[in-house]
Amino acid sequence: MAMMDTIRARHSVREYDGRAPEGAALEALTAVVEQCARQSGLSIQLVLDNPEVFQVVAKFGIIHGAVSSIAFVTARGTADDEAIGYWGQKIVLVAQEAGLNTCWVALCARRRSKARLATGEKVRLVIAVGYGLTQGHPRKTKTMDKLCTVECADSPAWFKVAMEAAQLAPTAVNHQNFHVTLRPDGETVRIEAPKGALNYIDLGIVKRNFEEVANETGARWCWEDA
Ligand SMILES: Cc1cc2nc3c(=O)[nH]c(=O)nc-3n(C[C@H](O)[C@H](O)[C@H](O)COP(=O)(O)O)c2cc1C
Repeated sequence: MAMMDTIRARHSVREYDGRAPEGAALEALTAVVEQCARQSGLSIQLVLDNPEVFQVVAKFGIIHGAVSSIAFVTARGTADDEAIGYWGQKIVLVAQEAGLNTCWVALCARRRSKARLATGEKVRLVIAVGYGLTQGHPRKTKTMDKLCTVECADSPAWFKVAMEAAQLAPTAVNHQNFHVTLRPDGETVRIEAPKGALNYIDLGIVKRNFEEVANETGARWCWEDA
């Protein structure tokens, strides 16, 4: 379960050593950003030298020492949110595998981003990426009974491990505003989130974590709406 190990090892990191990604890590990051942009049709840009995007006045959620970010650019307001979460989390997982640390950052100085913007486009949010001073630390999570419902007789092993991946997914302010239901057939999976500022970005992130691990088990399963 290589992907599950990556997911267990990932934590948000807010203190970095001031270096941009380099060498093999930079190659892996560049490749996955290009791949995700191509497959999703989203504007996803790796911006290597842009510490200004993290210069915000706030009491919480400050990122120190990071110079590089992945910027999600859109002219569609919040309409791309789920896709941004889903494809962005793919980049987060590949970055983690490559020895980099990350943090999703909604509280950023959008106007100081060096991402290229066409008319009408804005930076929706960024992911900080670089070399952390620590690997971050585990945080509190909601319990499984709050996060999922199983409608078949027994919860299968593949679902349990995929739900652990969903439970460990980053969500804004650690809200974990999502619910997963395994349908009576034991294969169909529904995921829902209430409307809310960043909830659909979170939903996309959670879907990615769940899907990567469910697929890694080799189980037969599908999303309800797919
Ligand atoms: C959409 C989104 C936006 C976030 N924005 C910020 C932010 O502005 N500042 C920050 O420090 N952390 C931010 N985070 C990180 C969350 O606080 C973090 O993922 C959550 O507390 C869970 O911790 P973990 O990622 O270490 O598992 C954001 C996470 C997500 C998914």
